[in-house]
Amino acid sequence: MSIIAPSILSADFSKLGDEIKAVEAAGAGWIHIDVMDGHFVPNLTYGPIIVEASKKVTDLPLDVHLMIEKPDLLIPDFVKAGADWISVHAEACTHLNRSIQLIKSLGAKAGVALNPATPVSAIEWVIDELDFVLVMSVNPGFGGQSFIENSLDKVREIKKMITDKGLSTLIQIDGGVNKKTVRDIAAAGVDSFVAGSAIFGSESYEETISFLKKEIED
Ligand code: DX5
Ligand code: ZN
Repeated sequence: MSIIAPSILSADFSKLGDEIKAVEAAGAGWIHIDVMDGHFVPNLTYGPIIVEASKKVTDLPLDVHLMIEKPDLLIPDFVKAGADWISVHAEACTHLNRSIQLIKSLGAKAGVALNPATPVSAIEWVIDELDFVLVMSVNPGFGGQSFIENSLDKVREIKKMITDKGLSTLIQIDGGVNKKTVRDIAAAGVDSFVAGSAIFGSESYEETISFLKKEIED
């Protein structure tokens, strides 16, 4: 599978609705929404009202990446606002299994995100419950950073775990995905590709998304 998920973090927020419609028309599969709380990561972004606003302008699934402490307190609000896929960070959840069950009980798809320094073993005892695993290939907090190469080894390790257990869990990668890095990322076994600056910083969203898809499928 190859899902391109543009991260609106790099969009022009003075015309967010138009930006979302433009990437949808250009072939995006999901819309990736980065929620940051200024505690778990050293940056602040947006909450459920931006999810709600995004829902009004697109039919694409909304993929909400929660880079926040105590996510259980806000998960119901994000689902109510229209989140279809929700990821929480393993490092931010004291009771990771509980957070996953909460997301699923509200009818959304559940994912766990792993920071670059977090080992795959963090999801060993929950992977059977997951719809997707998000491998961070930069330290979370900002767009436009360079891809951390050993993330590919982590993807391969997770892919093996999924295959060995006979699961259909998707693998998502987030950070530093661009025209140069996407081919190797796809070869490692990724299904969902988050790209912020590579898409929103380009002249033609259509050309960039088509190029990324072609590299993935070749
Ligand atoms: C980083 C975010 C990413 C970010 C990716 O904390 O989770 O989704 O937008 O940006 P690029 O694609 O520019 O590396
Ligand atoms: Zn993200």
